[in-house]
Amino acid sequence: MKLSLAPLQGFTDLVFRRAFAKYIGGIDQFYTPFLVLQNGGDLKSSHRREIDPRVEENLVPQFIGNSLKEFVFFRDHLIDLGYTKMNWNLGCPFPMLVKKKKGSGLLPFPNLIEEVLSEGLDDRINLSVKMRIGHDSIDELEPVLTVLNKFKISEIIVHPRLGIQQYKGEVDLDAFDKVVSLSKHPVVYNGDICSLEDYQQLLERFPNLKQMMIGRGLLKDLFLARRIKGEDTLTASERYDLLEKVHGEIFNSYSSYLSGDTQILSKLKPIWEYFSSNFNNEKKVYKGIKKAGSINKYNAAVAFAFQQGAKDIEIL
Ligand SMILES: Cc1cc2nc3c(=O)[nH]c(=O)nc-3n(C[C@H](O)[C@H](O)[C@H](O)COP(=O)(O)O)c2cc1C
Repeated sequence: MKLSLAPLQGFTDLVFRRAFAKYIGGIDQFYTPFLVLQNGGDLKSSHRREIDPRVEENLVPQFIGNSLKEFVFFRDHLIDLGYTKMNWNLGCPFPMLVKKKKGSGLLPFPNLIEEVLSEGLDDRINLSVKMRIGHDSIDELEPVLTVLNKFKISEIIVHPRLGIQQYKGEVDLDAFDKVVSLSKHPVVYNGDICSLEDYQQLLERFPNLKQMMIGRGLLKDLFLARRIKGEDTLTASERYDLLEKVHGEIFNSYSSYLSGDTQILSKLKPIWEYFSSNFNNEKKVYKGIKKAGSINKYNAAVAFAFQQGAKDIEIL
């Protein structure tokens, strides 16, 4: 099984991806959180840093947009930087973007998707799409797949919820089944894989899947991908050491280019929404981190987290 890390804006940036790949691993392919073309026709500096220079071999840059101009900008820019793959976000449910017909907001308009692909697709770079099963209704699914089937697309990554659901409710595995049967492209499953059991149940239902993508579940248990691959033979104390190294690397990376406690903490503290689940006593750990108003207090809260120890997850 090929495993990829889902892009999570604010969590899986270059700093996180490099620390994770260096110390933990188990992931075959990484994606940037979505990049946007600004009105001035360029990338924000934080977005540029994600892809330029190209330092990660197995990185797929993802962009969000709904126009040929945006598509062509990313296509040509990524080719110039040496990338061979790019991903189009047709899944983001944030209302501000949806209103502009971006992310899952583009799913009700398959004709727009078709226009962009007819003009913009180019053999020099492989395109994949990441999508929901519709924005407002499951009725949007088939027309979108019919359009995508007309084009050369390397894979379709599907998070089987509607955009309007955001992250609520159950994933719709019947809808995912429909994608598998209607799409002529390889289909990748994404959504709510939080344990080895979740993975095994999905594989039982969809035995032909070749690739899955994991997001929040991996941040809550950094060793999940290794465990799925049968590569987690670590003791709790070895896990503890690796978590310490990953955190240390993330801390040092942000401290090297951001200045002042506020800026650094604005990057570090949110990570713990998920990272705290790697530790015993996770609620208390997260509470301590959230309260920290200075780097000194943050370091004390981190020391408390490590005193609790890494969760000793049973290996099946
Ligand atoms: C905080 C947050 C940020 C996200 N940012 C992105 C993004 O930039 N691009 C994208 O395609 N999906 C984004 N997603 C969606 C995830 O990639 C993924 O599809 C979703 O979380 C379901 O997978 P999971 O249950 O394994 O996390 C984001 C999700 C969350 C919770």
